[in-house]
Amino acid sequence: MIPYGKHKIHKSDILEIKKVLNSDFITQGPKTKDFQNAISKFSNSKYCVVSNSASSSLIIACKAIGLNKNDNVWTVPNSYVATANCALHCGAKIDFVDIDINTGNISIEKLEQKLKIALKNNTLPKLIITVHFAGSPTDQELIFDLSKKYKFKIIEDCSHSFGAKRNNFKIGDCRFSDISVFSFHPVKMITTGEGGACTTNNIKYYNKLNMLNSNGITKNIKDFKYKANSSKFYYEQQYLGFNFRMSDIQAALGLSQIKNLSKTVKKRNHLASLYKEKLSSLPVNTQYISKKNLSSYHIYVIRIIPKFFKLNHKEIFNYFHSKNILINLHYLPIHLHPFYRKLGFKRNTFVNSEMHAKTALTLPLFYDLEEKQINYIVKLLSNICK
Ligand SMILES: Cc1ncc(COP(=O)(O)O)c(C=O)c1O
Repeated sequence: MIPYGKHKIHKSDILEIKKVLNSDFITQGPKTKDFQNAISKFSNSKYCVVSNSASSSLIIACKAIGLNKNDNVWTVPNSYVATANCALHCGAKIDFVDIDINTGNISIEKLEQKLKIALKNNTLPKLIITVHFAGSPTDQELIFDLSKKYKFKIIEDCSHSFGAKRNNFKIGDCRFSDISVFSFHPVKMITTGEGGACTTNNIKYYNKLNMLNSNGITKNIKDFKYKANSSKFYYEQQYLGFNFRMSDIQAALGLSQIKNLSKTVKKRNHLASLYKEKLSSLPVNTQYISKKNLSSYHIYVIRIIPKFFKLNHKEIFNYFHSKNILINLHYLPIHLHPFYRKLGFKRNTFVNSEMHAKTALTLPLFYDLEEKQINYIVKLLSNICK
């Protein structure tokens, strides 16, 4: 069986987890702080707060930014549902901006058009959440320029792109956003089992993220509203928060994994270049990656040109799965899920995202994937071409 993605656990990772299990703290201990510092150091951001998933990190990021009931939030349909759900958890209204079919990322042209209309209608978004699809960064600097003109906040959903760069700057440095969010789910570039993180350069957001992550509580005397009450046992709840904390067991794994992140990104780029070369004679499109970008290649997505295939899109999935190659689809557009249809979203509204979903295949890509397995996957694909 060849999955579409898989974690890589080194012996050193296991040793680090064992150390925590034998220590005084298995949660909220020193490893969580060390992992936060390591993420900030790696991404060149000032602050980091780790959580139990990127889904959780996205929710506290929206709340830290001050998203309120009926605020407008825009994101792309070509993402995992958590990218949009976080806005709804704050009572905000969600809408989408279509993607550029070649990059899979937000279309700047369509964003500009939609902003002009929203300005006239007084429906400008308070927040835009971008996604660096498959690990290849968006044109974040252009979105940042638009945010100054139209006065919206930006969250980068970097769940696919830890270790990626644009113009040689690290993704997650928040140079063009308020908060960046990472995922450490096992198919991602590094894993903590489940896990996520927010990075930011804004101390106010950082303090609020910390509190929201831990039931809205602060134990920091300098943040207390009732300073006169402070004593050894004293703490204050200042927001309605959650227990989204990461444990020290997970953080120890993350801390060990992050040491291999650059190597992992290099390996994924090597495997992606093998795919690109071997697929070059087949009727498929590969993702356009700007020369400004270093992709982290979280996933390897191609788009078939249907008229050159003997099987339709669905049959291709069945064919590969019957051969134990577990190809996947990234993504069924968010607005077409039953939950979002109930909110009023319809087919034929974000046509590039819908076209992408009708033709995209996610081929296996993970650290230990071998060249002979890539050869086999490409051979299977060529067998079903006309
Ligand atoms: C773009 C994107 N955002 C958010 C998430 C949610 O991540 P998590 O599984 O860590 O909650 C994912 C997970 O696959 C994702 O791909």
